Amino acid sequence: MRLFLDTANLDEIREIARWGILSGVTTNPTLLAKEGKDVRQVIVEICEIVDGPVSMEVVSTEAEGMVREAREYAAWHPNVIIKIPMTAEGLAATAVLARENIRVNMTLIFNPNQALFAALAGATYVSPFLGRLDDISTDGMELIREVVAVFRADSNIHTQVLAASLRHPRHIVEAAKAGADVATCPPAVIRKALKHPLTDIGLERFLNDWKQLEAVLAKEAVRAS
Ligand code: G3P
Repeated sequence: MRLFLDTANLDEIREIARWGILSGVTTNPTLLAKEGKDVRQVIVEICEIVDGPVSMEVVSTEAEGMVREAREYAAWHPNVIIKIPMTAEGLAATAVLARENIRVNMTLIFNPNQALFAALAGATYVSPFLGRLDDISTDGMELIREVVAVFRADSNIHTQVLAASLRHPRHIVEAAKAGADVATCPPAVIRKALKHPLTDIGLERFLNDWKQLEAVLAKEAVRAS
């Protein structure tokens, strides 16, 4: 499973991209609004930091406007892919964009039929929001499992499952076990997933033991001289 970062914050993207674990970035209007910066500049800068798919979401609600926005955004950088909401107009726009080889990430997906329709319309990715289902006491990971099963049952479907709306590190593990192609994670979830107290304790012990060895060797060198 590949990891995308779910943020438009350039500092977070720069830092975590440095770790060598990122294959892409997802944004949405809420994440871009949090940054309060020129959207095109932010998206192009993200594309320069991470050499992989960078999602930029349309805000039109009619297919014609979605297609117009998508063509504009796709021209910003080769890494830009277009987030389209799972609506009838979104499907119509996706069908047009797929014929123009403009990659689409269909978003706000909450049931397997929506994911299937997105794949049939030609989406490159589907984004099932597992966390928002968990938030309402529904099994969000079951949605990932069902979408993966529906897609794997048809060899003609090449659309990738991009698990989204992750809330904590176990969601990364479970999404991978469920067969998601990608998980897009907020920086805070990735930072939590990285840490373990036994790693910190073990490293401290290694470094202290090494310092003790250096002290013993230094004493022996003095004694021998
Ligand atoms: O990429 C979709 C993601 O940003 C939605 O996550 O936390 O708003 O449910 P969230």
